Amino acid sequence: MVDIEDAVVLVTGASSGIGEATARAAAARGARLVLAARREDRVAALADELGRAVAVRCDVTDDEQVDALVRAAVDAFGRVDVVVNNAGQGLHASVEETSLDDLRALLALNLVAPLAVMQAVLPVMRAQGSGTIVNVSSGTTFADAPGTGAYVASKIALERLTAIAREELRGTGVTVSTIIPFATGTEFLASLRDGRSDAAAGLAGVELDRPEQVAEAILDLVASGAAQADLVPVAYGGTRS
Ligand SMILES: NC(=O)c1ccc[n+]([C@@H]2O[C@H](COP(=O)([O-])OP(=O)(O)OC[C@H]3O[C@@H](n4cnc5c(N)ncnc54)[C@H](OP(=O)(O)O)[C@@H]3O)[C@@H](O)[C@H]2O)c1
Repeated sequence: MVDIEDAVVLVTGASSGIGEATARAAAARGARLVLAARREDRVAALADELGRAVAVRCDVTDDEQVDALVRAAVDAFGRVDVVVNNAGQGLHASVEETSLDDLRALLALNLVAPLAVMQAVLPVMRAQGSGTIVNVSSGTTFADAPGTGAYVASKIALERLTAIAREELRGTGVTVSTIIPFATGTEFLASLRDGRSDAAAGLAGVELDRPEQVAEAILDLVASGAAQADLVPVAYGGTRS
């Protein structure tokens, strides 16, 4: 739906992993970039390196910072063509032992923050009559793996929000899609809110994707405008052969 060349692409969580790789891939295809994360030094260095990019320090769980992020994008480039709602965090704990405060924080980051970003950018996209939003879910949603309850709950809720927003926005020129990565080699496991060693043990023997592979899948999804794409192998319930 969107030609990435010259498009203004806003990526949350652009300071590492899938977000950083998406920023690099979009820059390689000629996009202009808005790079958001809390670690401002990282996104500032990436913006310098890529050119035609602005870095914005943004904690996406802070609504005012989200509004300021979208304003900064419009101030810099006059429009926002693509948003990749990528910032997120994992948590590994049994349902019985999941701390309620951890769950609240996880939902704030993985569910409420992408909604806040969508709500902040939709007036801009509606006025343009075009725009694409890609929300990042996870292949963990395809299974009932012990320890993933809180994380899967946050991502499944995001998937449903995305699918329903897609229907609500039909005819406006704005497309909302879900990308479903498989286990990917990033800082994700080191940044889990809880349960790092158990989660790492659960992934023993799994061949991790590279973030660059996910970035290409995200840009392909932006180009196609499809509702959903996954990188999950058939053996794990996905469509990747
Ligand atoms: N790696 C996997 O196996 C995998 C698989 C499926 C889905 N995913 C999803 O992919 C997305 C990216 O994860 P990743 O694997 O690339 O992990 P990562 O390397 O840990 O990256 C997470 C990114 O989110 C940002 N972030 C975290 N909290 C934030 C906040 N409050 N405000 C703004 N930014 C925040 C981090 O930046 P700062 O710390 O600088 O703010 C970082 O750039 C996540 O949504 C994750 O759930 C990952």
